[in-house]
Amino acid sequence: MTEETWGWNEIEETASHIQRRARRVPSVMIITGSGLGALADDIEEAVSLPYAEIPRFSPTSVLGHAGELVMGQLEGREIAIMRGRVHFYEGYSLPRITFPIRVLHRMGADTLIVTNAAGGLDESFEAGDLMLITDHINLVGMAGFNPLRGPNDERLGPRFPDMSSAYDEGLRVVALSVAQELGIELRQGTYVMAAGPTFETPADVRFLRLIGADAVGMSTVPEVIVARHEGMKVLGISHVSNVIPSTHVPSIDGPNEDEGLHQEVLDSGSRVVPKLSHLIRGIIGRIHEA
Ligand code: HPA
Repeated sequence: MTEETWGWNEIEETASHIQRRARRVPSVMIITGSGLGALADDIEEAVSLPYAEIPRFSPTSVLGHAGELVMGQLEGREIAIMRGRVHFYEGYSLPRITFPIRVLHRMGADTLIVTNAAGGLDESFEAGDLMLITDHINLVGMAGFNPLRGPNDERLGPRFPDMSSAYDEGLRVVALSVAQELGIELRQGTYVMAAGPTFETPADVRFLRLIGADAVGMSTVPEVIVARHEGMKVLGISHVSNVIPSTHVPSIDGPNEDEGLHQEVLDSGSRVVPKLSHLIRGIIGRIHEA
């Protein structure tokens, strides 16, 4: 059976496997992006399961993504953190990438908090900024790659899911209020997914700005689509790890330096973790208000 046809029974089987090992019922699922896995360090009574030991979970091949599911308590809530995610550019299909969301939802999670590293397109952004995702552009989906492509099982969700308010307004209000309370600057904007693994050309960047994107990354959108298909509430936060310049013109001062961009993403991630952890803890503590 290929992952394109993983359905109700496979979800059940994987959910029971995790339940037997972890003996916890999650209410909030968190997916951590590049360099942000340390968010899981705050979990109390933590039980960790490497993806390699969970049926149908995919090991991540990317530096900065640990590859384990950590379950336990945070701010008095039952949390499941995906420490590291898999990406489309690694060669995995979208149903495979998004399978863990269906599993954690089956186990009880009704909210998804998704974080990522993204390149800033909005010229007022600075590296290290946090951006509350208000909406996304599904560029990869518009090109034909949608995790819901194929037969639809109505038990999981509707054939044509509404995406008019994918990022829950109540959760966004809580996030903004917590950020203000903690003195953390929280920008807002639209995220666009590019398939990667190449970073953008200057012409790509002009195009993405033109279509209304504020930050670009290589993840998140498929996960959000599946969470919405399942009826979960979604909150998304991008860590702006680098700001993408408008033009790359040759300079007599030397070549433009791009070779270190992935390292820049990871380094910036480790610097931003304390701020992001603080914010997410605060949000979880007040999630009942959403
Ligand atoms: N482009 C695409 N994805 C990214 C970037 C970027 O500049 N930074 C972090 N993820």
